[in-house]
Amino acid sequence: MVLDGFEMFPYYRDMTRLSATLSKLREEGRFRVLSPAIGIDFTSNDYLGFKAHPALRAAAVEALENGLDIGSGGSRLLRGNHPAHEQLEHEAAQFFGQEQALFFGSGFLANHALMTALPTKDDIILFDALVHASLRGGIQSNPAKHIRIPHNDANALEENLKANSGKTCWVVLESIYSMDGDFAPLSDIIMLCEKYNAMLVVDEAHATAVFGEKGKGLTFGHHSPNLITLHTCGKGLGVAGALVCASSEIMETLINKARPFIYSTAPMPLQAVLVSKALQLCAGADEQRTKLFALCELARKNFPCPPSPTPIIPHILGDEQKALAAATAMQAKGFDIRAIRPPTVPNGSSRLRITLNATLREQDVMALASALQGIA
Ligand SMILES: Cc1ncc(COP(=O)(O)O)c(C=O)c1O
Repeated sequence: MVLDGFEMFPYYRDMTRLSATLSKLREEGRFRVLSPAIGIDFTSNDYLGFKAHPALRAAAVEALENGLDIGSGGSRLLRGNHPAHEQLEHEAAQFFGQEQALFFGSGFLANHALMTALPTKDDIILFDALVHASLRGGIQSNPAKHIRIPHNDANALEENLKANSGKTCWVVLESIYSMDGDFAPLSDIIMLCEKYNAMLVVDEAHATAVFGEKGKGLTFGHHSPNLITLHTCGKGLGVAGALVCASSEIMETLINKARPFIYSTAPMPLQAVLVSKALQLCAGADEQRTKLFALCELARKNFPCPPSPTPIIPHILGDEQKALAAATAMQAKGFDIRAIRPPTVPNGSSRLRITLNATLREQDVMALASALQGIA
């Protein structure tokens, strides 16, 4: 329909452009729609089954019954700073073995904050080729020079650290990669960062609650003022938000310079109360972790899995349409498994991203193994 005065309203022109973009996505088979969680959960990041934990429900009810406000009412720097946030940060710093912690509403926000507030324009950011979109977005918004290091290539990292030894370098990686489920060569990279006095940012999103002593992450036990870790609270911890852990100097910089922290309403106090409770549960969840690792082992014995024994199992199919068809076929068999396609993963590596969690039963994993044979 052509509207009178169309040219006078750029809004309509923009809408036409958006429609064209959406049509192109449809033509390319890359148009995404939201769909409900139906079937056995082989797709969430709720690795320990905390998201429906009765103790978290009870903590929420108790906090609300005791009169906890629902909203925070403002930015942390204004009236939004609630004792529940500070209590959580105190507990998290102790739990993760770092000097201080700072709570954000989500991991995406926290990563964006780290990458935009910490490196400055004369610095160099050396980031692994497969880091999460939240880190990449922040890096791209930072005027510092950034260099993409081939995935998990400690030699390439060292060459770049050597070549930039007069500058402040920020090395950015994930301890477990979200789409491939593989480990970073952390001890080599920690050694290199010490050797070249580089800052090290480790996103522990998929290790938190699962790996390291009591689920404290794969960096736990490494003490350095140059280390900054990110622990998301919506995956293994089952709630929402993220904790950045580092030295007090880094925290003060974030509080003073990180725009996503300064110019955003603080997370609901209830969110902080629940993450505190989730940290307590995490400390006592050896049984769930043991069960999860046993399920990982069972999966490895019964269908093709990459070498890293993590609960993230990519089933690479290459072609986007094949991945979509395979996901649909698995869903029809009662498994909630999703296709992951570009731009989330590189071109030609479309896949099913299968995740395991501690609420699954052995027979679920065995049923999955035979269903996967069916689609092969
Ligand atoms: C590696 C990694 N970092 C950060 C995030 C963002 O965390 P959140 O979901 O809390 O925003 C994700 C989420 O998918 C992730 O996989």
